[in-house]
Amino acid sequence: MKLLTQEKINEIRNSVNIVDVISSYVSLTPRGKNYFGICPFHDDNNPSMSVSPNKQIYKCFSCGATGTVFNFLMDFEKIPFNEAVKKVAELGGIHVDIGNIKKEKINTTQHQIYDLSLKFYINNINTTQGKKAKEYLHKRGINEVIIKEFQIGLALNSRDSLSKILRKKQFKEEELTKSGLIGKNEYGFYDLFYGRIMFPLYDLNGRVIAYSGRIYDREDNSKYYNTRETELFKKGQILYNYHRARDIARQKNQIIIMEGFMDVIRAHSVGIKNCVAAMGTAITKEQASLIKKMAKEIILCFDGDEAGAKATKACAEELNKIGVIPKVIRLEDNMDPDEYIIKYGKEAFERKISNPISIMDFELSYLKSGKNLNNAEDKTLYIKQIISELNKIDDDILKEVTIRKIVNETNIDEEIIRNHLVNKPKITKKTVTVNLSKYEKAEKNLIYFMLKNAEVIKMYDKKVTFMPTKEYRLLAREISAYYKEFGNINEANFIDYIEGDTELLNTIKKINQNITSEKYTIEEIEDYISVIKEYNVNTAIERFQSKMQEITDPIKKAEIAQKIIDLKKGV
Ligand code: CTP
Ligand code: MN
Repeated sequence: MKLLTQEKINEIRNSVNIVDVISSYVSLTPRGKNYFGICPFHDDNNPSMSVSPNKQIYKCFSCGATGTVFNFLMDFEKIPFNEAVKKVAELGGIHVDIGNIKKEKINTTQHQIYDLSLKFYINNINTTQGKKAKEYLHKRGINEVIIKEFQIGLALNSRDSLSKILRKKQFKEEELTKSGLIGKNEYGFYDLFYGRIMFPLYDLNGRVIAYSGRIYDREDNSKYYNTRETELFKKGQILYNYHRARDIARQKNQIIIMEGFMDVIRAHSVGIKNCVAAMGTAITKEQASLIKKMAKEIILCFDGDEAGAKATKACAEELNKIGVIPKVIRLEDNMDPDEYIIKYGKEAFERKISNPISIMDFELSYLKSGKNLNNAEDKTLYIKQIISELNKIDDDILKEVTIRKIVNETNIDEEIIRNHLVNKPKITKKTVTVNLSKYEKAEKNLIYFMLKNAEVIKMYDKKVTFMPTKEYRLLAREISAYYKEFGNINEANFIDYIEGDTELLNTIKKINQNITSEKYTIEEIEDYISVIKEYNVNTAIERFQSKMQEITDPIKKAEIAQKIIDLKKGV
């Protein structure tokens, strides 16, 4: 899919400064020649990621993530290479025709329909026909500022007002019906939303792609009517308010997850802006990983009722699967955050946020409710359920604290609990490679410096040897080939050059782990090369030795013995 020349790609890359681009996502502090920040690609609190303005690459010393500005955008925004290039070109003011990205092309008409409908709904609520809707919102404490900011609108109480407008714009019939806004029957087109206050739902970039419409002055079976799943709207892939909350959540390093969008709007209106909503359904894997990327501290603040407790549990489980252990807030008297803030005010809610309970404490009280711990059966069930919960998390400290708690609470023998625990492999922190063999270390170091200095490439090419480990061998070969073609080595150019080859890039990541030094000596490089040679010779010797044991012919045996002696001399 490379539609641009390497030169053009380099030009685009050089049109921006990687430090500027990354610092719009991660806060960076200058230290020496480089900038440092918290790596967004693994779970961390320390500034392990360095960004080099000289080399125009970033590198995490903990997880090894590395690359150019393109790789950063691809990984962070989850976009393909050509979109990352396009984005950088835009930032750098370079005009390129990378061809329209397929996804955008399909959706333009749908986006136009949504943009238009949004204007229409917003206009409606500001006319006399919107008076009652406004009154309803004002009564709920949603003022004009909030109405404007959240682009709250109104679908009129007529069944064809939007249809008429869109029909005039000459949209194709099927574009209208597939939007999820317009229906069609034997009498013609009709509006699917009518007589509802319209809350726009946005994609991750803040573009309107659906609505949730609330009744306000009439009876209806459902309080909310939502756009069905469409080409644009995949409910499980978005979070309400994501685009507004993202940066604030990252700054605070805290994100609050709520059930309803009204809760989020309320919290936002009192200045608590790091909130998103899952909108009444169980969260999906995609939503969980979006949440994980937003902040380190994740707080679930669902409705205070039984359904909210169930949702809390389900959401926590989905997050646990990707190594996230959320904290929990429970609100009294079945209140939802909206009601709580109205009743007790911002400060009271902020106190709640500052004192969340641990997920295990939540589990304990959740499992205990409705059980009588003096009853042997209830108590047994309780203990069993907790053990199963303990087995789902991989936070050792939290586990210990919880074991202590149930031992105290139920007087059960601690050993019994421990015997029922399975040791789950850790999934959060990537463990640093342990006990690297001296050979692998030599291979890694050698490539590390090959990527930075032509001199080292030349040394590697001159010595007749090869890397014993396949992935390093392939990478070294690629570096040599690059050098042959361009006559120089530049890590950033090289990384773009191998674009698309994730295996090579992963190998580079692996190499960057734990190596931070920038300087080397010739002796050091020679040493790496001879360590690798020694390894290759030793494996050859081993091969010959086992061959010698297989054959009986004395002459052949002598030949092989000679080969072994020659090899040994060479070391
Ligand atoms: N929801 C829905 N359809 C319904 C009820 C709820 O789609 N009939 C979704 C909405 O996205 C809503 C979320 O579930 O934001 C939470 O529902 P609920 O707690 O009932 O909504 P509230 O936020 O309390 O709404 P309101 O205060 O306006 O009644
Ligand atoms: Mn409510």
